[in-house]
Amino acid sequence: MTQTTATGPAINAPAYVKNQKLIAWVGEIAALVEAANVYWCDGSQEEYDRLCAQLVAAGTFRKLDQAKRPNSYLAWSDPSDVARVEDRTFICSAKKEDAGPTNNWMEPGEMRALLQTGDKALFKGAMKGRTLYVVPFSMGPLGSPIAHIGVELSDSPYVAVNMRIMTRMGKAVYDVLGADGEFVPCVHTVGAPLQAGQKDVAWPCNPTKYIVHYPETREIWSYGSGYGGNALLGKKCFALRIASTMGRDQGWLAEHMLVLGVQNPEGKKFHVAAAFPSACGKTNFAMLIPPAGFEGWKVTTIGDDIAWIKPGKDGRLYAINPEAGYFGVAPGTNEKTNPNCLHSLDRDVIFTNVALTDDGDVWWEGLTDTPPAHLVDWQGKDWTPESAKQADGKLKPAAHPNARFTVAAINNPVLDSEWDNPAGVAIDAFIFGGRRSTTVPLVTEARNWVEGVYMAATMGSETTAAAAGQQGIVRRDPFAMLPFMGYNMSDYFQHWLGLGKKLEAQGAKLPGIYCVNWFRKGADGKFVWPGYGDNMRVLKWILERAEGKAQGTEHIFGTSPRYEDLTWTGLNFSQDQFKNVTSIDHAAWTQELKLHAELFQQLAYHLPAELTEVKSTIEQKLAA
Ligand code: GTP
Ligand code: SPV
Ligand code: MN
Repeated sequence: MTQTTATGPAINAPAYVKNQKLIAWVGEIAALVEAANVYWCDGSQEEYDRLCAQLVAAGTFRKLDQAKRPNSYLAWSDPSDVARVEDRTFICSAKKEDAGPTNNWMEPGEMRALLQTGDKALFKGAMKGRTLYVVPFSMGPLGSPIAHIGVELSDSPYVAVNMRIMTRMGKAVYDVLGADGEFVPCVHTVGAPLQAGQKDVAWPCNPTKYIVHYPETREIWSYGSGYGGNALLGKKCFALRIASTMGRDQGWLAEHMLVLGVQNPEGKKFHVAAAFPSACGKTNFAMLIPPAGFEGWKVTTIGDDIAWIKPGKDGRLYAINPEAGYFGVAPGTNEKTNPNCLHSLDRDVIFTNVALTDDGDVWWEGLTDTPPAHLVDWQGKDWTPESAKQADGKLKPAAHPNARFTVAAINNPVLDSEWDNPAGVAIDAFIFGGRRSTTVPLVTEARNWVEGVYMAATMGSETTAAAAGQQGIVRRDPFAMLPFMGYNMSDYFQHWLGLGKKLEAQGAKLPGIYCVNWFRKGADGKFVWPGYGDNMRVLKWILERAEGKAQGTEHIFGTSPRYEDLTWTGLNFSQDQFKNVTSIDHAAWTQELKLHAELFQQLAYHLPAELTEVKSTIEQKLAA
């Protein structure tokens, strides 16, 4: 069937696409962006290989050594397009209050004029000279009642191949969609139209960027970037920002959480969901290998970044991972810190912004103690330990700090057998954890749901390279969702409180809520806590608390383990070092509470009174 539009290219929808609304929308967008061609992705291996070969020919991809890293590619982005752009991310709800004070907002009509309808609308002619790829995907197992379908229209073949790894992408989506199924429309352009005869660059993008969400109509429009969460629209844009608003309306949660399974030596299995901000250890925790002395314990991965969580009929909370792959941080990953992650990367990987070795493999900071004698860095320049030396004596990184890998979940050697189960797994504990060099202790248990919600809501964390902007600044990052909330943050707190109340009223036992910090630093500026596999010591305590087995000591804002409450087998960690990561300094906490107060002032509109009450209680205890 050949459809044409007044101004656009031939749409040529394949016969298996039965959804007229989708076909009409593709025609409408193709005409708006003046795409040269339309290509319907089928998600096959043949197509993946072909698009990768095309990306190699275009200079976007380099094929890595086939023996060292089978079926793997390396991409280097434009140096200006290396991370999410939070200040260019918008929630365009009809009312400003519904986006809330933590989001950028623009009136939807005004935004549409800027992007679609105005004389100089950015999407007009944005795909000139380029192919528009139609990328159908399912977030969650295909056809499952909890899954949702999206279709991304993108002029980036890099996006198409990444989406095949990150989501269930391809032809089968159309069977689920049928003639009149619902989908979330996602439009993406790198914003670099090609004039006739103009030569393309390896990583087209535009200095002007807009990452736009319309929560009421559930639409996503992304302009100017080809990188990560800016461009792979199933991930943060759909599975968090749009899904969080769907969850609010329908009684479920979309969270920036890993989900792991953990089995104890008695064979009992637990499931834990943990929210840490970007580049604060989710992938690592989800693939943790218990240290020596923890024989019989096993951790398996359900998800490493996003969880959709729904209450079951039994009053428990069930989590699924809506994704099908990992878009993970490369730097810091090595044989000691995260062997499971490293082995996930043995083959079939797309690397972005890591360094290239002379033998056609990849390298990043932390992969080995000593860097290779020669590399080509992420900007394509020669790199040696000598030439990279900077004025401060440190080496200029060969891989970008936000360099990432894209790999299918099925490559993970410790993938949980339930990872694909549409029913999800029942959560036993929630963990929240920021990156804090001071103040916040190793682990604290909230005394109840409301105090746990308070802990999550007031969480602070140092900013990382996952987002453009200054790094290492402590900011409030409620629930690790600050950059990913699709609606008013205070309404979201209320949604969590309301869900807890509802389940408790049904007689359900709610999961415990815990707050962790792996990142306290000593006077020497180094992390005191060994982290990684040793985080098992904290996880074990959490699970034993859930079973009522482990002891702890109660303090001003919760319960933490004493030295003797953790298992130290296989680790030399002194009482003094323990004190260094668990001490609660009253002056620092008085200061911390001022930051909570500032946050609550910012979020005053619709802020649940329960949270202000928890704050007052802590303040009173601090003053006493
Ligand atoms: P996003 O994909 O951005 O959401 O990140 P993430 O939360 O999955 O973080 P990830 O596990 O990729 O870790 C980010 C960085 O933190 C890496 O450089 C890790 O090596 C480092 N890291 C992870 N866990 C620990 C830990 O327990 N201790 C220390 N010191 N560093 C850690
Ligand atoms: C994050 O920043 O939390 C990520 C990477 O997981 S991105 O997909 O770019 O958002
Ligand atoms: Mn993330």
